[in-house]
Amino acid sequence: MGVLKRYGEFLPVTAKTPAVNLEEGSTPLVRLDRIGSDLGVELWGKLEGCNPSGSFKDRGMVLAVAKALEDGARALVCASTGNTSASAAAYAAHVGVPCYVLLPSGKVAMGKLAQALIYGARVIAVDGNFDRTLEMAREASNERGFAIVNSVNPYRLISQRTGAWEVCEFLGGAPDLHVIPVGNAGNISAYWAGYVEFRDRGKSSSLPRMMGFQAEGAAPLVTGRPCPNPETVATAIRIGNPVSAHLARAAVAESGGEFLSVPDDEILDAQRVLAAKGGIFAEPASCITLAGLMKLKREGRLGEGLRVVMVLTGNGLKDPDAALSQVGKPLSIGGTMEELMEALRP
Ligand code: F0G
Repeated sequence: MGVLKRYGEFLPVTAKTPAVNLEEGSTPLVRLDRIGSDLGVELWGKLEGCNPSGSFKDRGMVLAVAKALEDGARALVCASTGNTSASAAAYAAHVGVPCYVLLPSGKVAMGKLAQALIYGARVIAVDGNFDRTLEMAREASNERGFAIVNSVNPYRLISQRTGAWEVCEFLGGAPDLHVIPVGNAGNISAYWAGYVEFRDRGKSSSLPRMMGFQAEGAAPLVTGRPCPNPETVATAIRIGNPVSAHLARAAVAESGGEFLSVPDDEILDAQRVLAAKGGIFAEPASCITLAGLMKLKREGRLGEGLRVVMVLTGNGLKDPDAALSQVGKPLSIGGTMEELMEALRP
């Protein structure tokens, strides 16, 4: 059941809203005991990479696109570090509206680029970073009257709250600590709003601390000022001037949480740990959650026995280059059994 159907009563869905549905949401929440025991916590990973376009963006995109159709939009436009464009392109294709996507040239993971193209979006590579492409997309949306489906579109964040609701329903309440990557700062804000709303509706009894992690080379919320030249291996969160910074700051402040930055090598390290000890392949931006927890543990700042949820925002298959950059090559052998037996030695 897609999120408009599953959570329609809590979303601005009316009789006139088209029932757009790619069966997004209802993603697995997986308990990761091998990693959790190393960290001394009860660790859960929300596998947002299991969404139809392989990232959490689908939760918000489905409502943004449904509302754009309801309002008679002629086309969609967005800027993206990759996942928003893949999601927008998928939903545009599904409902049959044109979609224009602006990408920072050369800085989008291969899988995401392939997605936008194969879904049939008009893909425009801009010589500039994400922050610039977003300014351009906003202007283009005003000029042409296209629906902008970045998280400046309020429906995106409204519908992304569904992630928090699923966590509460699955666990029977909110976790103690919620950790999440922060790029344009929309998702952390949406999760917090979701937790607060479920608490206010009496559907959960507590609120989590919210911790937002940023890459060291793109950490405006940690340093407290925009970062003019963001750079990180986690290209999804290569963002220097997040549009929802104010909401993210409020979420962290209200929940008693914090922002923390993590260097690229620790992000890649965590990607390997998550895969090799959890059986989960998530893209680098997602793995910053585990990298951040590992850092907190090292610093003696991770409370023992906490119930922790980390949002694994995107599928590792989107960025095979990042994974291949840190693992060895397969062992090559000729086609003889002798060589195979040799290779099978412990
Ligand atoms: N993780 C992944 C995999 C992402 O693609 C993004 C954002 C984030 C985390 C951060 O979420 O922006 O709500 O703080 N990707 C956007 C995009 C910017 O264009 O796909 P956020």
